[in-house]
Amino acid sequence: MRIDVVSIFPEFFSVLDVSLLGKARQSELVNVHVHDLREWAAVKTDGTPDAHRTVDDAPFGGGAGMVMKADVWGRALDDVLQRGGVLVIPSPAGIPFTQALAADLAEAEQIAFACGRYEGIDARVAEHYEAKGFRVLEVSLGDYVLNGGEVAAAAMIEAITRLIPGFMGNAQSIVEESHADGLLEYPSYTRPASWRGLDVPEVLLSGHHGNIERWRREQQVRLTRQRRPDLMADHDGDVAQ
Ligand code: ADE
Repeated sequence: MRIDVVSIFPEFFSVLDVSLLGKARQSELVNVHVHDLREWAAVKTDGTPDAHRTVDDAPFGGGAGMVMKADVWGRALDDVLQRGGVLVIPSPAGIPFTQALAADLAEAEQIAFACGRYEGIDARVAEHYEAKGFRVLEVSLGDYVLNGGEVAAAAMIEAITRLIPGFMGNAQSIVEESHADGLLEYPSYTRPASWRGLDVPEVLLSGHHGNIERWRREQQVRLTRQRRPDLMADHDGDVAQ
């Protein structure tokens, strides 16, 4: 997979060099290219040089904040977006980012992340690339507002790339983790069996695989019902209430 990121803060993405994702980059399972949006801001809309490399302007219709310019983004994405690539625009007004969307995007050949700042990117940019036949997704990390798309893009890149076959050492841990089957993961314990007066649930020490599996499923349902009742609709009836 190839991932391109366009941002006015390319240095932010040094976070991608560390940890598992750093290893995957080295092994070329995933190629990540980070670009500075201002490289495409050296000329003004009328073609004259722009020493300030301006990327934003005041919103039509008035209001607070600035909007990122369509012409600058258009030049950047014309260069970066490849045929068949998916354009992802992180935005608090986007569709929710979920494990299912991460799994879907893990199959893309190329994803280009367009990280906006301020009040976002001129809406015609998404419209234009959609009209040109690209898959364009405005995606939100959650119901809160960040200062820009960078943190959201980094989180999405981590969630997507770990689902690429060969990325994780232990494929079963992906199958069993939270959200893989629409439920939160069961609690886990390791030695010692007793710590500060707290004992590991007896069933986990029993060696009885059937009982352990049943207990884990009950815990998944209990935790999901308690913390994420919105996820429970698909699972009501799984385990006696
Ligand atoms: N940019 C600002 N807030 C965001 C959010 N919640 N999700 C994605 N991108 C954003």
